[in-house]
Amino acid sequence: MKTITHQGSQLPALAFGTFRMQGEDCANAVKWALEIGYRNIDTAQRYENEQDVGSALEASPVPREEIFLTTKIGMANAASNDVLVSARESLDKLRTDYVDLLLLHWPVPEIPLSETLGAMAELQSEGKTRHIGVANFTVPMIEEAVDRLNIKLFTNQIEYHPLLRQKKLNECIFSHDMILSGHSPIATGRIVENDILKAIGSKYDKTPAQVAIRWQLEQDKVMPIPKSSRREIIAENFNVFDFSLDAGDMEDIEGLPKNDRGVRPPFEPDWDPNND
Ligand SMILES: NC(=O)c1ccc[n+]([C@@H]2O[C@H](COP(=O)([O-])OP(=O)(O)OC[C@H]3O[C@@H](n4cnc5c(N)ncnc54)[C@H](OP(=O)(O)O)[C@@H]3O)[C@@H](O)[C@H]2O)c1
Repeated sequence: MKTITHQGSQLPALAFGTFRMQGEDCANAVKWALEIGYRNIDTAQRYENEQDVGSALEASPVPREEIFLTTKIGMANAASNDVLVSARESLDKLRTDYVDLLLLHWPVPEIPLSETLGAMAELQSEGKTRHIGVANFTVPMIEEAVDRLNIKLFTNQIEYHPLLRQKKLNECIFSHDMILSGHSPIATGRIVENDILKAIGSKYDKTPAQVAIRWQLEQDKVMPIPKSSRREIIAENFNVFDFSLDAGDMEDIEGLPKNDRGVRPPFEPDWDPNND
């Protein structure tokens, strides 16, 4: 397992996503992920599955301290008191005293960023989370948080896969001492039909999804978060540490069209259309 060392923590570079899974499906998927070897789990208040992730963690023989656990403050909980109250509820559901990383799930223009991040920093100082960060933030938002508000952020979790490039945003993340957490690394399934990734994968007896995950792992301080509900696919997505992509493969992937943004909720921020 590749690890990332950042801001005093060492974490597995490959995470397991839990979006769109609830109840027994979610608990089983997390159980299988832990059995297979994942030690980095991503959930969110909005997924309404923290209690299922928590029950899988509690039932697992893997000690809590070996797992890097992330949850996210939902947009509806971005006001200061709601951050504090909802984060404590999250910990109860997750059956743990702390998370490793607490993110703001999406930017919330109606609430001052200083208020939300201030409350999250308070939770950090109380030991309820080891790190704080954001998700789906644009360049000006990161600049506001880090440069103007002087808040140390661990990561920006953004959509990232071979079919989407946000070059300025990537550069901004790294220049602000953050890691890039790549959500939807299989482009929510669209990757599996890509001919270039199929051709690259066939050289190594790997699937397009494995190539897409490996592509992120080849990059410094990048953490892909694939999700699957199927045991064999959870295992497939973990089976990416026995090969690597060469410069030609990386170049071929670089040449793919990079404008396929799949995660576009009505509350998305104004992404920079000229991000290249
Ligand atoms: N911060 C945010 O706003 C945000 C937004 C989106 C996602 N996320 C995080 O990122 C994680 C991953 O994103 P995602 O779930 O949207 O998309 P994803 O991981 O790119 O793709 C998941 C989809 O692809 C399928 N799949 C996964 N691996 C596959 C493989 N090897 N071969 C064929 N199909 C495969 C899954 O189907 P099955 O389940 O049927 O296997 C599922 O439908 C989420 O679970 C969540 O933790 C965060």
